[in-house]
Amino acid sequence: MSQSAFEQAASLRSEMAAENPTSLEELEAFRIAFLGSKNRIKPLFGLIRDIPNEKKKEFGQLLNEIKTEAEEKFERRKRELSAEEESKAADKIDLTAPAYPYEQGARHPISLALNRIIDIFSRIGFEVVEDREIEDQWHNFTALNTPEDHPARDMQDTFYLQGSTEYVLRTHTSSVQARHMTNHEPPIRIIAPGRVYRNETVSARSHCQFHQVEGLYVDKNVSMADMKQTLLYFARAMYGPDTRIRLRPSYFPFTEPSAEMDVYWGLENEDDERMTKGTGWLEVLGCGMVDPNVLEMCGIDPTVYSGFAFGMGIERQAMRAHKINDIRLLFENDIRFLRQFTSAL
Ligand code: DAH
Repeated sequence: MSQSAFEQAASLRSEMAAENPTSLEELEAFRIAFLGSKNRIKPLFGLIRDIPNEKKKEFGQLLNEIKTEAEEKFERRKRELSAEEESKAADKIDLTAPAYPYEQGARHPISLALNRIIDIFSRIGFEVVEDREIEDQWHNFTALNTPEDHPARDMQDTFYLQGSTEYVLRTHTSSVQARHMTNHEPPIRIIAPGRVYRNETVSARSHCQFHQVEGLYVDKNVSMADMKQTLLYFARAMYGPDTRIRLRPSYFPFTEPSAEMDVYWGLENEDDERMTKGTGWLEVLGCGMVDPNVLEMCGIDPTVYSGFAFGMGIERQAMRAHKINDIRLLFENDIRFLRQFTSAL
C-alpha cells in the first residue's frame, strides 16, 4: 500500500531535519530542494485534493509548518556559515603587515585665513552669521543706502539672475548686515563670512567670485573709538603684537563717516615695495559708522542706537600669508596646489 499523504509529509520532514549543510554550496542545494521554485514540499500540496475533508486543514497546516521549518533552517545556517567564512577570512589577516598610511587631508587656504579671522573675533564676542548668496536688490543695495542709479548696481559690476531685475548674486557680505538687523534687536555683534560675486574679468589679481568677512556691532553709545580699538585688536592678533594701523577717510554709501584701515607692513625689500605699492602700508579693510539711514531702513532706531561695520576680502589675506601670486589658484582645485597646505592649521 502506498504511503498516506501524512506519512509522506512526515518522512520529508525528517529527511529535511537530518540535512545539515556545511558549506555555502550545500546550503544552496538545500535551498533548491526545499525552497526553490521546484521544491519537494510543493507536490505534497497537490495531495490535499485526496484527503478527507475533515483532515484537509490539519494537512495544510502540517505542510506550512514544514515550509516554515525549511525557511528557518536556511536562514539560520546562512547566518552561521557566513559568520564562519568571516572568521576564516579574519584568520588569514597578517597582523605583522605594515599598516596602510592614512592620507591626511588639507584645509583650503581660504578656510585657513577665514578660521583665523573668526577665531580672533569670537574671542571678543562676535558671533558668526551666514546667509544667502542669491540676494534681492533691497538687502544688497537699497537697505545699504545705495541709490537706484549707483554704478555698483550696473550689470557690468553685478550679476543679475537670468531674466530678473530683482535678484542678484550678492556683491558683498554687507547684505547680511541688512538681513540680520531687520530681524534682530541690538545689541548686535556679528561677523558674516561668505562668498561674493562681481562681474570682473578673471586675471591673476581679480576674480568674479571671492570671499569676504563682514563685521557689525550695534548697541547704545557705540563710537568710532570702539571701532578703532576693535580693529586695532584684530590687526595685532592677525599680524603681530606690535602692528600699527591707520584709518584713511573713504566713502561707502552705508557708513558715515567711512574709512579704510591700513596696516603697517614695512618697506625693506622689493616684495614689500610691490605689496604695499611703495608706501609700506597694506590696505586691509573698509569700515565706518553705520549710516543712520541704514539703521532706520532695517528697523533700528538711530536716535537710540549706533554702530560700526567693517568688511574685508579673505583671498588677499590668504595670498599674503602663503605667498600665492595668482588668485585663480584658489578656485581651480588643483590637488598639487591644495596638498601644500596639508600641515597648515
Ligand atoms: N562692502 C564693502 C565692499 O565690498 C566693504 C565694506 C566697507 C563693508 C565698509 C563694511 C564697511 O561693512 O563698513 O567693498
